[in-house]
Order: sequence, then C-alpha cells, then structure tokens
Amino acid sequence: MSSFYLHIPFCQSKCDYCDFYSQPLGSQKELQDYVDLLLLEVDLLAHKWPGRGPLETIFFGGGTPSLLSSQQVGSILRRLEAAFGLAASCEISLEANPGTVDYDKLRGYRQAGVNRLSLGVQTLDDHQLHQLGRIHSASQARQAVTAARQAGFDNLSLDLIFALTNQDLLQLEADVAGLLAMQPEHLALYGLSFEPGTPLQQRLQQGVVSEPDDQFYADSYLLIDRLLNEAGFEHYEISNFARHGYRCQHNQAYWQRRTCLAAGCGAHSFIADGYGERWLNPPSLSNYCRRLKSGGLPLELLETFDRDAAMAEYVYLGLRTASGVCRAEFQQRFGTTVDAVFASALEKNEGCLRLQEDRFRFDLQGWLIYDHLISAFL
Ligand SMILES: C[S@@+](CC[C@H](N)C(=O)[O-])C[C@H]1O[C@@H](n2cnc3c(N)ncnc32)[C@H](O)[C@@H]1O
Ligand code: SF4
Repeated sequence: MSSFYLHIPFCQSKCDYCDFYSQPLGSQKELQDYVDLLLLEVDLLAHKWPGRGPLETIFFGGGTPSLLSSQQVGSILRRLEAAFGLAASCEISLEANPGTVDYDKLRGYRQAGVNRLSLGVQTLDDHQLHQLGRIHSASQARQAVTAARQAGFDNLSLDLIFALTNQDLLQLEADVAGLLAMQPEHLALYGLSFEPGTPLQQRLQQGVVSEPDDQFYADSYLLIDRLLNEAGFEHYEISNFARHGYRCQHNQAYWQRRTCLAAGCGAHSFIADGYGERWLNPPSLSNYCRRLKSGGLPLELLETFDRDAAMAEYVYLGLRTASGVCRAEFQQRFGTTVDAVFASALEKNEGCLRLQEDRFRFDLQGWLIYDHLISAFL
C-alpha cells in the first residue's frame, strides 16, 4: 500500500506571492510532452520499487494541475492503475485554480476518477485577488464551486490565504463566512508568507507593502480556529480543517511517514523501508526531461534516515497534527521512549504541550508558534 504524488510544474501565470516550483505554460504541446514523460516515469518507478501497490491515495499537485485536460488526467490514472493497482477506496485529489476550470472540464475529471477537488480560492476580496496576482475573481471562484458540485464532486477542499496586507479582522471574517457559505468538506488556511525572490517580497523590500505584525497574525489564526470550530470543522493539522470523515488521506500518509512515490519535476518520494529514504527529482524542467528521454529516472537520493533522524522527523510531523505523537506507537516503532529521547524538548515546551490518552499534542498556542517551538526537537 502506498500513495502517489504527481507534480505539474506549470501555471497560466505566476502569482506574486508563490515560490512553488512552477512556470508559465508555453503551449499545449509542452504540456502533452510533459504528460508523456510522466507516463514513462510511472512505469520506471513501478519497476524500481515493485510490489508497492495498490495505491491508497493519488494527488495531482502543482503548479496548476487543472491545466491538464480530463483526457490527460485519465491517461495518467490508467497508467497508475496498470503499474500499481488502485485500492477500491483510493482517494484521488487534484488541485485546481478557479480561473482554469469549467463544468465540462470538472465533469471530465470526475469521470476520469478524480474524487476530491482542492480549489485555490485564496480570498473572496477582488481587490486582494488582484494584488496577489490571481487570474480569477471571487465570482469565478464561486462559479467553480457550483460547477464542481454539479459535476459530482462531494469531497471539496478550499484554500484560503489569511493575514493579507492591509487586511483587518472584519475582512478575514467575511472571507471565512464566504468560504463556509460554499459548504466545503475541507479547508486549508495559510498565513501569507513573503517568499524570497517573489514580486511580493520585492514590494515588501521597497516599502510598497508592509508585513502584518505577529499580533494580527495570531488574532487571525485564533479567529479562524473559533469560526471553523463553531461551524463544525475539526482542526486536525496546523493549517487544515475537515468535516467529520473528510481529512485528506494523502496528507495523513505524509504526516505519518508512509511510503509515497512521486513523479514529476521537483517531486519528492518517501520510501518507508527501514528508517526511511527520501528521493528527489531535481527542480529543473530541462534536466528532468533530458534524463527521462534518455531512459533513466531523474531521481537523486536526498536522505537515508538513521534512527535519530527518523525519530526527529516522526515527532516533527506528528506534532503538526491533532493526533499528535502516541507514546506507545513511538516505543513500538523505535524501541525507546519519546520521554527519554526528547526529555529536554518536552520540558522546554511543557507550557504548550498536552499529554492526553497517551499522546503528546500541541495546543492552539503551540501550533501558532510551531516553527519556533519545534526547533527544540530537531
Ligand atoms: C499549488 S497551490 C494550489 C493550486 C493552484 N495552483 C492555485 O493556486 O489555485 C497551493 C496553495 O499554497 C498556498 N500558497 C502558495 N504560496 C503561498 C504563500 N506565499 N503564502 C501563503 N500561502 C501560499 C495557496 O493557498 C495555494 O492555494
Ligand atoms: S499559487 Fe497556484 S496558480 Fe499561483 S503561482 Fe502558485 S501554484 Fe501557480
């Protein structure tokens, strides 16, 4: 049993804040050539790591996977099924930009087997959408949600970015209310980060925009948690909320360090044998294509985990989630106790850590400053 990630490194145009590995799509031929290489890579991966199926989750991420036609998505899914087999309940997610989809395309995805759609709504404020360099309006995002429902999607996730420049809490509350009105099963909410090399960060350095202060970020995060809890969502990971039964299975596999093979330029594979291995496809489209065309996998071994590194990553990922780190599972996996290995980190963070039902979990304040707190465990 494994998961499979496919990276689509193209967007219609780059958003001003985003440093995900993607570039503007040149032509439909460029996209089809890339899909042909993905199909080849699927076969090569199945050959390198035999017996890894059936696949429990598949995730088309990007970039903008919704630039793919439904025929292209269908051909990739058929190849995955032939190479690995698909579990009967396989979760198949696809990330979509609302500016790139309509009913026909979404219906095609659904018929091809995609059963979970993640739409990048980001905000419902048209001025903010423009400032972020998004290619769509709020009304196009609403239309995409309606079209997705009509196309048969009953597992819909929406992305929102908060702590936007010049945003106040009333505007954030309106964004959250707008998202809830679309009745999604799942929500992912990220604070705006100013990534090096992006146009947004340049505007920050030039003093054209200012970064929201820590207090506003904290107030925004706590407001989101309260509003979504009241609406019946479970806050199951730092940035993720789900209605009962709708946690993202693919991300759960990642947080639990289960095997996830990955195809596409810049994609990472994790093999859960021993203490784990992480492999990387270099984030260069030309290198990726050249390597596959010459018949080889573009993979490079990034890290072979020893026990110490595996324990640190297990805790690093586990504490991101509401399930936290189970002491008994840790002991069974590593033959030692989490209390012994991380004694000083646990003591240092005791103000934000809870021990309930044999599990260590961060409370909401802990999640708020997770990046700061987790360094004690690494
Ligand atoms: C690959 S994109 C989602 C799909 C599609 N490309 C789109 O944008 O609609 C993944 C998500 O990461 C989030 N994201 C990307 N860069 C970010 C940043 N600098 N700060 C906060 N969130 C960011 C956005 O919410 C985005 O929807
Ligand atoms: S946020 Fe999405 S659409 Fe925008 S550049 Fe990043 S991956 Fe592309």
